[in-house]
Amino acid sequence: MKKLLFWLTLIILIVAAFIWTNMPKIAPYYKQLTKPRVGLNIDLQPKEQKEAHFVGSSKCKECHKEKYHDWKHSMHSKMIQDIKKDSNVIVADFSKLPEDADFTLAEAVYTIGSKFKQHYMIPAKINGKDDFRLGNYQWNTQTNKWQHFKPYKYWYHDSYPHDNRQFPTSTTCDGCHFTGYMATGKRVEPAIACESCHGPGSKHAEDPDSKVFKASMFDPIRTNEVCLQCHMRNRDKRIEAEGATAKDLWMTATDYPKGYEPGKPLISYKLPAPFAPDKETKEFWPNGAAKKNRTQGNEYIHDAMYKHGITCINCHDPHKLTNTAQKPQGNKACMKCHSFGSVIGPHQDTLEQHTHHKADSKGSQCIECHMPKTGKHTGKSPLTVRSHRFAFTYPAETKAFGMPPETSACYACHKDKSLDSLQNDLKKWGQLEWEKLESPQKQ
Ligand code: HEC
Ligand code: HEC
Ligand code: HEC
Ligand code: HEC
Ligand code: HEC
Ligand code: HEC
Ligand code: HEC
Ligand code: HEC
Repeated sequence: MKKLLFWLTLIILIVAAFIWTNMPKIAPYYKQLTKPRVGLNIDLQPKEQKEAHFVGSSKCKECHKEKYHDWKHSMHSKMIQDIKKDSNVIVADFSKLPEDADFTLAEAVYTIGSKFKQHYMIPAKINGKDDFRLGNYQWNTQTNKWQHFKPYKYWYHDSYPHDNRQFPTSTTCDGCHFTGYMATGKRVEPAIACESCHGPGSKHAEDPDSKVFKASMFDPIRTNEVCLQCHMRNRDKRIEAEGATAKDLWMTATDYPKGYEPGKPLISYKLPAPFAPDKETKEFWPNGAAKKNRTQGNEYIHDAMYKHGITCINCHDPHKLTNTAQKPQGNKACMKCHSFGSVIGPHQDTLEQHTHHKADSKGSQCIECHMPKTGKHTGKSPLTVRSHRFAFTYPAETKAFGMPPETSACYACHKDKSLDSLQNDLKKWGQLEWEKLESPQKQ
């Protein structure tokens, strides 16, 4: 009897191990992907939280040391830095500041950014209000040079005077860079802290049983919204709701979803920058890929992964902010879900068969072909912003859409070849789609 039980257990274990190891890697995500979709217009913020106010990250630190530590070491905590507290936050060379600069280092209070570029916030009275303005030069960290900065040139160029001294950061920047400003119009804390994603936390901090919003609790489509509030280019919602033009919004045009708090339906607050397929705009190429930074959301909402319920935080730890241009996680980041010959693809048996490059070649890195560099951080920056439109763009599409050849993944590594000959390589590999055979119709 004992012997029988032993053999039976062993067989069950072997079968279980066999099933487990042969399960597609995406299987553990079924729970996330099959959660019911509640729709974009339902308020998911816990009721208790509605009476709460913002308290700042030092309060959260008391009980969440590890999360605080992860966040403190991420770039979110470093977006706005106080120059008076620590002058080391300045990355620019002020000895080379051009003579016609309309600001000095002594006037600047905060730095904005550091990694790709840095701007300086200077206290100013604008439109009768205590506000901040931006210097007329910015430091480009990628080229190590000062360059002109005219923030009013953006979509709201008819809403503000064309003079940096009269251009306020309150309506155009601060909602995305200071915690609490988007919801309350008060700069609770510089940079992107806990409550930017979890909402006001006073009630929860007093009584941990009082619920606080956590974006992964519900519908995965809605999980993305805490990121999309900032990582998606906008227009002022009044343009859609009231048919207002930028001129009607004189000195008030707002470039962030004013009033939004995590959990509330973002769609009631945010109007994304328009994109029309086949049309090139200042922000997008005709295939939907971004020309600029901070467009991850505008691109990702068109992607099949978004539609299936894969979220920003499946690829980026929300506190550590893993997977960055400096520290990409390589193919592992994709292969935690994808596997060769699995239901979600790639539908070949090996990496080489999928990419037609040697396994250890740069040409076998997923992001090189599926996240090509299509955007820039400023007009004078190199092409380094990777697209969050993961679907492969064929060289023939790049050509037909009139996009610069460098935005084609294949061309970016094979500048000695033409788009036509690269398209031909794909044709030889048999990697084509019916409608994309020769060149897609542009009109
Ligand atoms: C007095 C200690 C304390 C403070 C202060 C505190 N928390 Fe918590 N928090 C807890 C405890 C305990 C839990 C675990 C509760 C549970 O698992 O049900 C928790 C859970 C959470 C969760 C997970 C909620 C969930 O449903 O899974 C989040 C998010 C959170 N806290 C965010 C914050 C933020 C943001 C702040 C600052 C505004 C904060 N906490 C301040 C004690 C605290
Ligand atoms: C950029 C947005 C963002 C910021 C900033 C942020 N969080 Fe979170 N946090 C999230 C998301 C999204 C989740 C859900 C993660 C998941 O389910 O994998 C989460 C989960 C948590 C949890 C629950 C962990 C668990 O295992 O369920 C706690 C606690 C928490 N955060 C605390 C904090 C604290 C404290 C801070 C500030 C020091 C902070 N968060 C800053 C987005 C953020
Ligand atoms: C309140 C606005 C805001 C929210 C909310 C926000 N971000 Fe960010 N994020 C920023 C800004 C601003 C930066 C640039 C920070 C810098 O360079 O100092 C940034 C940078 C990043 C980076 C690059 C980090 C690095 O090391 O360079 C990643 C990745 C990122 N965010 C992911 C997310 C994800 C995922 C979410 C949602 C869970 C999210 N962000 C929510 C504003 C926001
Ligand atoms: C809708 C939210 C939003 C608004 C409004 C906004 N930003 Fe940002 N900003 C972001 C996000 C998100 C990032 C990081 C993601 C990226 O660059 O792709 C970023 C990045 C930056 C960076 C680069 C950070 C670095 O470390 O290199 C600078 C500088 C910056 N913003 C300045 C500004 C200024 C100045 C304004 C106002 C004229 C402004 N932003 C308005 C969301 C916003
Ligand atoms: C399928 C995985 C995946 C998803 C989903 C995804 N990202 Fe990314 N993201 C990446 C990878 C990989 C990189 C690094 C690319 C590189 O090397 O530049 C990246 C880069 C970024 C960066 C730039 C970091 C830097 O170095 O400046 C930001 C910001 C960002 N993602 C935000 C988001 C946001 C917001 C979402 C959701 C709307 C999102 N991502 C969804 C994989 C993903
Ligand atoms: C958390 C799981 C997960 C991760 C991580 C992930 N994927 Fe996906 N991916 C999916 C799912 C689910 C689909 C949808 C499959 C389908 O349509 O059959 C998908 C579809 C795709 C597609 C096909 C359609 C499209 O346009 O999106 C591409 C290409 C893709 N993924 C590339 C990547 C790359 C590159 C990475 C790494 C940067 C990555 N994926 C990381 C789950 C994931
Ligand atoms: C040399 C370029 C290249 C590299 C590198 C590459 N892919 Fe692809 N991928 C393609 C092309 C071309 C297609 C076909 C496009 C289509 O079917 O629409 C494709 C299609 C896909 C698809 C959807 C079609 C299918 O087979 O299900 C997925 C998923 C995918 N790739 C995932 C990945 C992952 C994960 C990696 C990294 C391990 C990767 N790719 C690396 C070029 C590449
Ligand atoms: C990240 C860089 C990179 C990308 C993206 C890339 N390749 Fe390559 N490719 C290489 C390298 C490096 C080699 C040299 C051989 C090797 O490593 O496999 C190569 C070799 C080749 C070869 C064989 C040798 C030759 O030069 O004729 C062809 C054909 C080719 N690539 C076509 C393509 C096509 C088509 C695409 C787009 C689907 C592409 N490559 C995308 C880097 C890249």
